[in-house]
Amino acid sequence: MAEPGFVFSVPARDGRLLWFRPVVPADRSLLVEGYRHLSDDSRLKRFNALYEELTSEQLRFLAELDYHDRYAWGVMIGPADDREGAAMGRYARYRNPTADGFIAADLGITVLDKFQGIGIGTELVKALIITGHANGIDRFVTQVLARNDAMLGVFRLFGAEIGPVELGTVEVTVELAPAAETLADHPLSKLIAGYWSA
Ligand SMILES: CC(C)(COP(=O)(O)OP(=O)(O)OC[C@H]1O[C@@H](n2cnc3c(N)ncnc32)[C@H](O)[C@@H]1OP(=O)(O)O)[C@@H](O)C(=O)NCCC(=O)NCCS
Repeated sequence: MAEPGFVFSVPARDGRLLWFRPVVPADRSLLVEGYRHLSDDSRLKRFNALYEELTSEQLRFLAELDYHDRYAWGVMIGPADDREGAAMGRYARYRNPTADGFIAADLGITVLDKFQGIGIGTELVKALIITGHANGIDRFVTQVLARNDAMLGVFRLFGAEIGPVELGTVEVTVELAPAAETLADHPLSKLIAGYWSA
């Protein structure tokens, strides 16, 4: 059973359990620690820059959320008595709607190097699609390095539109309503459906 704080759990591709809970301000120290363990390649892909450490402003942005326009999920991996931090993913709504009047949000995902390639990024994008859709976001629009095959691979699973390469990056757009519909059987979708029908 999920402990307090964990909202749901799903298996990773290697069978280990992934435990999801919203990021809270007290997670700043976990974020600092996680960043220290990231390879330079992962840091570059995630932040488009190589920071020595995350600044207090970045940490505030990542850990202090309103759980509506800005939401982040943290993921731990392992058995209930021996979990370790593995990943976090967040969305942040853009201040202005898109030119065609839709509410859009940026997306950022980080999976620690030693846990990459076992489906955690995919599970994080699922959780963010479901959460964003429930919170009124119409689409994710985000810039990704054109060489980031893993991230583009994950986005393609959800019907992403991928724009032309400009200065080494591409703009990725994921429409949340159709993507969330394909995730109706996900444990988080069921929790949200139960909440609204209660
Ligand atoms: C990009 C990232 C989030 C992907 O998460 P992940 O947990 O490693 O990815 P997954 O295991 O869920 O893989 C999902 C899909 O991506 C594709 N993929 C994964 N690694 C790949 C690689 N090295 N090359 C090509 N495709 C790859 C595959 O299509 C895979 O699907 P499949 O194997 O089920 O067919 C993660 O690798 C990461 O944190 N990288 C560093 C930071 C970053 O790039 N962040 C994204 C920018 S916001």
